[in-house]
Amino acid sequence: MKLFIDSADINEIRELQALGVVDGVTTNPTLVARAGGPFMQTIKAICDLVKGPVSAEVVSTDWEGMVREARKLASLSEYVVVKIPLIAEGLKAVKVLSQEGIRTNVTLCFSPVQALLAAKAGATYVSPFVGRLDDVGHEGMEVVRQIRAILDNYGFDTQIITSSVRSPMHVLEAALCGSDVATVPPPVFRKLVHHPLTDIGLQRFLEDWKKVPDPGF
Ligand code: E4P
Repeated sequence: MKLFIDSADINEIRELQALGVVDGVTTNPTLVARAGGPFMQTIKAICDLVKGPVSAEVVSTDWEGMVREARKLASLSEYVVVKIPLIAEGLKAVKVLSQEGIRTNVTLCFSPVQALLAAKAGATYVSPFVGRLDDVGHEGMEVVRQIRAILDNYGFDTQIITSSVRSPMHVLEAALCGSDVATVPPPVFRKLVHHPLTDIGLQRFLEDWKKVPDPGF
């Protein structure tokens, strides 16, 4: 499973990218606003750093406006993937963009049939928001499992990005159910690395190592 960073903060992205296990980045208008920099320059800088898929979202709500913004975003870098909301106008925009070879990430997906429509429109990625579903009492990961089954049943090559990830458990379940990607906020990404038994075990090994008379290095 690919791992993306869900952030528009270049410093956090740089820190985590240094681990060597990051495949891409997703942003959204909220994350860009939180990061504080100018939009286009921020996306370009992330693309230059990560050299993998970087999702940047349109803000128009009519398909012509979405297509116009998408073309501008796609001209920034070969790594840009244009995020389009899963509304009727968004589906129209995805169809046009897929015919132009512009990669899309259909976002704000909350149901398996919405994902089916995104795949039929030619989406490169579809992003089910598992955390926000959990928040309203639905099992978010069940939606991912159903999307996986639908895409596999009909041989769509649209990739699933498990989004709105809130914990390492979401990442585990995404990997177990065959999600193509999980996009992970930096605080959760850091938690993926750590396990208390690893820290305790390492401390014990290092203490015991002090008793080795001639370690050789
Ligand atoms: C990523 O593509 C989504 O925009 C993001 O995961 C949403 O996460 P949130 O529900 O924590 O805002």
